[in-house]
Amino acid sequence: MMGKWFPRLYDTLMEPLERRGLRDIRKNLIRKASGKVLEIGSGTGFNFPYYEQAEKVVAIEPEPLMREQSLEKAKTVRIPIEVILAGAEALPFPDNTFDTVVGTLVLCTIPNPSKALAEIRRVCKSDGTVLFFEHVRLSDPFLGRLQDWLTPIWKQLCDGCHLNRDSLEQVKRAGFKVIRIEQYFKNIFIVIEAANKKI
Ligand SMILES: C[S@@+](CC[C@H](N)C(=O)[O-])C[C@H]1O[C@@H](n2cnc3c(N)ncnc32)[C@H](O)[C@@H]1O
Repeated sequence: MMGKWFPRLYDTLMEPLERRGLRDIRKNLIRKASGKVLEIGSGTGFNFPYYEQAEKVVAIEPEPLMREQSLEKAKTVRIPIEVILAGAEALPFPDNTFDTVVGTLVLCTIPNPSKALAEIRRVCKSDGTVLFFEHVRLSDPFLGRLQDWLTPIWKQLCDGCHLNRDSLEQVKRAGFKVIRIEQYFKNIFIVIEAANKKI
């Protein structure tokens, strides 16, 4: 992990992007989360205002400063939200606990996304839903290579964020059944809705 400037400035850095469309993408996705919901790497809690149908949200966030800021946002919303200090590679929950698992802009950063996805599969009920909103590596050969080239420095600047992950492929490889995808901003952002078919 880097110093503390990234978690401190995260909301300020994100605000222009949120205004230019990320907020609407979040709203449309998060309102679909129902039942008992797990949010992975909830950061400062950008998604918290958009839960509408959830019965309860349990969020995990390993960065203490991010978690602290998210607790303030959790206080202002109607749905009960608990934020646990934990990483996605070892989720502190029994098998088949959640109806919906949500992750936004997080598969890019988790150090071991395959392990995290296996854990998500384990704690999500069979036939539960996973909802992801991610930025991904572009298929355009030049732009994809540019993302590869920028990633080492970007990772240093943005607390471990990779510009060049193929998160759709990782979700499929983990065994989720992709139901719907949407692409935004020349395909750099993707929304993935998938079912957790266990048998
Ligand atoms: C780019 S931020 C996104 C935050 C938030 N999900 C959002 O949409 O604004 C990436 C988040 O992933 C979290 N993260 C890093 N490593 C993680 C891990 N191993 N498990 C879960 N989350 C992790 C970071 O602490 C940070 O909150």
